[in-house]
Amino acid sequence: MVDIHSHILYGIDDGAQGIEESIELLKQAISVGYTGIVCSSHYYIGRFENENYDKNFDILKQKISEENLAIEIYKGNEFALSPNYMEHRDRIKRINNGRYILVELKNELIYPICKEFFQSLLSQGVIPVLAHIERYPHIKVRELIELYNMGVILQVNLRMAANPVDRIKYLLENRYVGVVATDAHRLGKRDYNVIESLEKLKKTLGEEYFNIVTKINPRKIVNDENIERVKGEEDELKKINGAGSFFNRLWSKLCRG
Ligand SMILES: [Fe+2]
Repeated sequence: MVDIHSHILYGIDDGAQGIEESIELLKQAISVGYTGIVCSSHYYIGRFENENYDKNFDILKQKISEENLAIEIYKGNEFALSPNYMEHRDRIKRINNGRYILVELKNELIYPICKEFFQSLLSQGVIPVLAHIERYPHIKVRELIELYNMGVILQVNLRMAANPVDRIKYLLENRYVGVVATDAHRLGKRDYNVIESLEKLKKTLGEEYFNIVTKINPRKIVNDENIERVKGEEDELKKINGAGSFFNRLWSKLCRG
């Protein structure tokens, strides 16, 4: 598996604080089946701006090789969406220096602003991956589907994907979710002690879709390849219109909230 969302790179943000903690997290990750991790440290303008990132990344990579750990790390960031993006664009790390960028939303941002930002990224050839979509209850399910149809990749955190609330369950069951990732931060606090969540997720999603969201799509993102998209807006509307009353009721409930 490949994890595209983690804060295991030490000394950059509120994730791992020392190199020993990074190494312990990596050992945990290997033990549950990860072979690649993107060090998506927060890029939060005015608070975390990649100070020491490249230096610490090189040191960690060297340590991984000295300890013969069977895992690859990649560069990245989790960019907290800000209107000042353009001023920081060259300093924000896209995933493994490819087209994909992991973006999180600040709660105060209303949907039309988010949508406009994603449209502008896409028009520049940058593909947004929206981090932990479960965190934005102010964004309606139909709006998340609209982002999906625009080409935004929707990411859910592993623990939530294994125990989803209704709206996330709906998006998983209908395969709108492109990636499940850990958002690991620190030992004992959102770490890689996730074997139970992985097993539960595999059981509920079935092996094929589980592999897509934990292995195939994350690997494609790291390799800067296109992700196959199986749904279109038209298909979705047809399905909703053609579905029975249960789905219609569920749909209108989800769209309201
Ligand atoms: Fe995160």
